[in-house]
Amino acid sequence: MSRPLIFAANWKMHHGPAAARDFAERFLPLAPPVDGRTLWFFVPDVTITAAAEAFAGRPDVGIGAQNVHWEGKGAYTGEISIPLAEEAGASAILIGHSERRHLFGETEEQTGRKLTATLAAGLTPLLCVGETMAEREGGRTESIVLRQLAGALDPIDADRLEPLVIAYEPVWAIGTGRNATPDDAVQVHRLIRMDLLRRGVRADVPVLYGGSVNSRNAVELLARREIDGLLVGGASLEPEGWAEIVRTPRSE
Ligand code: 13P
Repeated sequence: MSRPLIFAANWKMHHGPAAARDFAERFLPLAPPVDGRTLWFFVPDVTITAAAEAFAGRPDVGIGAQNVHWEGKGAYTGEISIPLAEEAGASAILIGHSERRHLFGETEEQTGRKLTATLAAGLTPLLCVGETMAEREGGRTESIVLRQLAGALDPIDADRLEPLVIAYEPVWAIGTGRNATPDDAVQVHRLIRMDLLRRGVRADVPVLYGGSVNSRNAVELLARREIDGLLVGGASLEPEGWAEIVRTPRSE
């Protein structure tokens, strides 16, 4: 069997409970389970329970929250805690998505706290890193990605990072229709892998690519052994299109 693959949908601020039920009904017959492939749906908080119920018969499918607070409870109006997300049906948490960092001012320190709390709760964290276009053009891609990794990973012992998953999502590729070339992506994936090895983190932490993925470029991205899966926004919103992407053949 080739290396395992993860296909993660980030629905962002789309699809309420009814839309999630409708999505599952249309998607499931098109995307039967495949050995070694795991599917994640990061859905709006109000949709977590409906999505968990709609996909309950599929052990290869997990539901995640797109953001959480690191405290277990308290006076934090508008936030949700990890226990609340878990009670609703989430088993994974998206952490440090570029929209959280750049639109909502989330700092690396906050990202680190969220990662620590997610691991402590026993949920799967999907940590996102990636540079802006100005940073790339300024030759700072490597230093930015390493700084983001340090912000999240430095406070945590390597042996406690067990279920970690990382996504490289260049900010300039998100929602722009301009994906990184497989060579661009592989270069940063290797950098991430080297940083993880230096930290003594286990070697098989999956590193996904995200940013304007569609059913056409998915083939060439997944043909590269450094890319362990995809994190997809816009192209995950339609069940037929997402089913096509999760069935992408891997031609290594
Ligand atoms: P798009 O696939 O719409 O570019 O979004 C990527 C993303 O942000 C997934 O987290």
